[in-house]
Amino acid sequence: MTETDFIPKPYSKHIKSGDFKWSSPSNIALVKYWGKKKDQIPENPSISFTLDYCKTTTKLSFSEKENKADFSFDVFLDNEKKDDFKPKIETFFKRVERYLPFLKNYHFKIETSNSFPHSSGIASSASGMSALALCLMSIEKELVHDDLEINFTQKASFLARLGSGSACRSLEGDLVVWGEHVDVYGSSDLFGVKYPFEVHENFKNYQDTILLVDKGEKQVSSTVGHNLMHGHPFAGQRFEQANKNLTDIKSILKSGDLDAFIGLVESEALTLHAMMMTSMPYFILMKPNTLQIINKIWAFRESTGSKVCFTLDAGANVHVLYPENEAGSVLKFIKSELVTFCQKGEYINDKVGFGAKLL
Ligand code: PMV
Repeated sequence: MTETDFIPKPYSKHIKSGDFKWSSPSNIALVKYWGKKKDQIPENPSISFTLDYCKTTTKLSFSEKENKADFSFDVFLDNEKKDDFKPKIETFFKRVERYLPFLKNYHFKIETSNSFPHSSGIASSASGMSALALCLMSIEKELVHDDLEINFTQKASFLARLGSGSACRSLEGDLVVWGEHVDVYGSSDLFGVKYPFEVHENFKNYQDTILLVDKGEKQVSSTVGHNLMHGHPFAGQRFEQANKNLTDIKSILKSGDLDAFIGLVESEALTLHAMMMTSMPYFILMKPNTLQIINKIWAFRESTGSKVCFTLDAGANVHVLYPENEAGSVLKFIKSELVTFCQKGEYINDKVGFGAKLL
């Protein structure tokens, strides 16, 4: 598949107005995407668990307009007009216009809400961009009279990627790979694919409790972070390591080896942050409480033999990952020992989910 395969043939139907509503979840990477080439092409392949509870719901209403020279849209978050969201969406529209040539024909009203609090430090770009991409695809599907030449989810993932790279991994579940990798059949730099291999029972219904250590705005945008991988002294080795970790995780997911899973996932999280600490300019996104939590998790594992582990995204919050059969004991541990390190004691109980839904 190449980019041009996503350019549609002329639309056969004319629609004046309508609306679509989708919910789409967030995702948490096990092998991390950090570093991109032009047009949101990843420097290395990544794999993530799709989440269940953390999601964005977007209703996109559209009505035909006279002047077809520019994009026209309004954005609302929880019924409140959000003009500060417009530049990001304008950039997204410009990037995808080639693939959705109807964009300038309509005025859009984008009404969105998140299941998680917006000031939680949880990025809403993956769930938000994938929900919007799906709504746009629903319009295209109508315009071609249900006669899409291309797989609906694949093109929605392709479009979501152009909004925010990791968003392309949010449409399906329970595991999604993005980025071409020799060992993953069908994998592509252009869109996410559902993990196509056998997954051991141990990883079914995996739990993710997100500890909200720092609910502030991101210190460094992910665009700036990705760009710092250009000319980074360890970039080449990092991209090679991510490729190898993807090969390794395939056998781990098959065998159900939780110790190997822990080693790979925690190393990935710390490597992501090590890349940030060793870029120029350098930065530290972990907070003292992030480290307190990590140490507590290690001590708990040591003393109980639990298979709980952590991962991080580009921030201070900690995702605590554990098998379903440990849900009771790990939650007890979280409440008694970790919640004290969360801002206002807040955390979100989530688990692996199965992707976006048309509402
Ligand atoms: O999708 P972006 O550009 O916000 O990048 C996300 C990068 C990480 O969350 C740090 C890792 C990942 O693979 O999701």
